[in-house]
Amino acid sequence: MKLLIAVPTYNEIENIEPFIKLVFVHIPSWAEILVIDDNSPDGTADAVERLAEQYPGRLHLLKRSGKQGLALAYLAAFEWGISRNFDVFLEMDADFSHNPGYIPEMLEKIQSCDVVVGSRNIKGGKVEGFSLIRNLISKGGSLYSRLVLGCPVKDLTGGFNMWRKSALEKIGLTTIISRGYSFQIEMKYKAFLAGCAMTEIPIVFSDRKKGKSKMSRKIMLEAFVNVWKMKGASGRDTGMDQFVKFAVTGGLGTITNLVVFFLCADLSGLPEIPVSVGCFLIAVTQNYIINHRWSFKTQTAGTGLSIKRWCIYTAGSLLGLAVNIIIMKLVLLNWELQYKFIAQACGIAAGMVVNYILSKYAVFRKRENR
Ligand code: GDD
Ligand code: MN
Repeated sequence: MKLLIAVPTYNEIENIEPFIKLVFVHIPSWAEILVIDDNSPDGTADAVERLAEQYPGRLHLLKRSGKQGLALAYLAAFEWGISRNFDVFLEMDADFSHNPGYIPEMLEKIQSCDVVVGSRNIKGGKVEGFSLIRNLISKGGSLYSRLVLGCPVKDLTGGFNMWRKSALEKIGLTTIISRGYSFQIEMKYKAFLAGCAMTEIPIVFSDRKKGKSKMSRKIMLEAFVNVWKMKGASGRDTGMDQFVKFAVTGGLGTITNLVVFFLCADLSGLPEIPVSVGCFLIAVTQNYIINHRWSFKTQTAGTGLSIKRWCIYTAGSLLGLAVNIIIMKLVLLNWELQYKFIAQACGIAAGMVVNYILSKYAVFRKRENR
C-alpha cells in the first residue's frame, strides 16, 4: 500500500514546519506527504522546499500560481498521486486542527472500506476552540447539507478524510463543481451516491492556534448554493423532498375541495353532505394524480395511473381521516384545551403521517422488473 497525505496550504508559514515534522512521527515509512501551495505570499513553499531535504523522496511540493481555492488544490493533488500509483489518499489541514495521531486508526479502517471520514459530529468527536458563532455555522452547515442531500454522513463538511484510489475514480473527479470548502461536501455526497463503503471515526478537531482561517463569506455562500446544484445534478429525491411535496399536494387538495364545495353548496345550493362526499373524491383523485406524477415520481417512473391504485389510495385517505378523528377525540378527552382546533391539528398531523407512509410504501411503492 502507498499512502499520500495531501496538505493544501495558503499562508501557513507559522505552522507548516512543525506540522510536517509531527506528521512524519505518526506515519509508516511507506507514506509520503504532498503540500499543495497556492503561491503563499508568506513563503510557505520555500519552507517546504527547505524541509524536503530532510525527508528525501517523502516530502513533495506542488506549487500553483495563485490562490485558486481548496478544491482545485486537492484535485491537483489527487491527480498527482494517481499518476504516481498511490492507492490511498488522506486530506489534511496544515494548521494542527487535524491530529495526525488518528492516522494509524484511519489506515486500519480503510482496509475494510472505501472512505474513512474523520467526524466531529458522532459520539466521541467534537470541536475545541471554535467561537459560538463558528460552531453554529459549522454544525448548521453540516445539518443543512445532510437534510438537503439526504446523505447519512454526519460530518459532511469536515476536511480530514481518507480515500482509496478506487473511490476517487468512482466519484469522477472531473465532475466536481465546487471550488471552495463545499468540495468536502460534494466529495462525500458523490462517494455516497456511487455506493462507496464509508466509515466515520470520531475526531477531536481543535481550532488553529496560529495563522488565520481562510473561511470567508464567499466560501459559505458557495456551499449554500452548491448543495442545491449537487442535489439537482443527482436527480435523486430524499425522503424529506417526498414528504414536503406530499404535504404541498395535500394543501392543494384542500383548496380544490373548498372551491368545489363553495361552487356547489353555496352558489348552486346543492345539499352539503353529498357535495362534501363529492368534494372528498375529487380532492383525493387530484392528490392521487399529483402524488404519482410529482411527489413520488422517482418511485413511480415508468408506471401509469391505475384504478386499482386509486382505490388503494382512496382507502388510505379514508383510513387517514379515521386516524385524524380518533386522535382528535383522544386529545380532547385527555387534555383540557382552550381551543379544540389544536386537537384537530394533532389529528391532521397523525392522519397525514399515516397517509404518507401508506403512499410511500404501498400505493406508490417502487416496483421491480419494470
Ligand atoms: N492551496 C490552498 N489554496 N490551500 C488552501 C486554500 C486555497 O485556496 N484555502 C485554504 N487552504 C488550506 C489552509 O492553508 C489549511 O491548511 C487548510 O486549507 C484549511 O483551511 P482553514 O482556513 O484552516 O480552514 P478552516 O479551519 O476554516 O476549515 C476547516 O473546517 C472546514 C469546515 O469544517 C477545514 O477542515 C476545512 O477542510 C473544512 O471544510
Ligand atoms: Mn483550520
